[in-house]
Amino acid sequence: SLQDGEFPSGQENDAPTLGDQLTKWLPVFRGKQIHGVILLASDTDANIQTTLANIQTSLDTSIKQIYNISGAARPGSQAGHERIFGYLDGISQPGLQGFTTTPLPGQQVVAPGLILAGQDGDITAASRPAWTTGGSFLVFRQLRQLVPEFNKFVQDNALTIPGLTHQQGSDLLGARLIGRWKSGAPIDLTPMADDPTLGADPQRNNNFNFTHPGSDILSDQSHCPFAAHIRKVSPRADITVTEATKRRIMRSSIPYGPEGV
Ligand code: HEM
Repeated sequence: SLQDGEFPSGQENDAPTLGDQLTKWLPVFRGKQIHGVILLASDTDANIQTTLANIQTSLDTSIKQIYNISGAARPGSQAGHERIFGYLDGISQPGLQGFTTTPLPGQQVVAPGLILAGQDGDITAASRPAWTTGGSFLVFRQLRQLVPEFNKFVQDNALTIPGLTHQQGSDLLGARLIGRWKSGAPIDLTPMADDPTLGADPQRNNNFNFTHPGSDILSDQSHCPFAAHIRKVSPRADITVTEATKRRIMRSSIPYGPEGV
């Protein structure tokens, strides 16, 4: 076993913990032992097809492909807004000691063993097989997003605040659900209105930790609500540095399916 219990038993067994309803899983993922995921990324579809064909030829009958899905970058000004709800993603990732030489302001740098097996900080390093050293654990999730439904929800439940139009109240609700405006600007730094210049500035757009002079982090939600996605998945100063540096993930996402549905 590779020590980390969820890995050998598989994601299907872990579905109840994840809050997944297995009836909503794509049937192709059910009742199978899936041993590998091959991710191919390129600027051109032709490169991907050629590389895929080469891999299939060299692995031949030693593998059986059970599923294949094509992702697609978003068009025009939406490029980089990986998640289909239209919010800029890929801003916040942990840095790794020894790899991230110049961390960005606000970026937490953690022991490399939190991500890489067998490196400093990997608490199960001693009992892992040698061949895992330098490898990592990949979690692949295909999440279907209900885009028109999300947009309708934030329209129907727009926050009513004096001085804000209905659209601004709707955008504010969306930003408070995520913790960032669509531009990527964190609401902890700009709580009432988007600031696209801030959102696009890597020197500033991750430099916050939910603390504010004169306010109590245990009760203050005036900037970022506790329930905002980014505050739940990375509570920053809400927890101690020791806690925050025990478990981390690196994320990478790509949209799939047609635009506008
Ligand atoms: C449809 C589902 C999801 C959407 C639309 C979404 C959207 C976003 C957005 C817009 C950000 C802000 C960009 C950034 O800080 O880099 C973000 C950050 C993040 N998300 Fe998600 N996310 C989704 C699911 C998940 C899941 C399933 C996980 C964990 C298993 C996750 C973990 C994170 C983490 C760790 C961050 C960085 C937080 C930080 O360091 O401040 N997200 N997400």
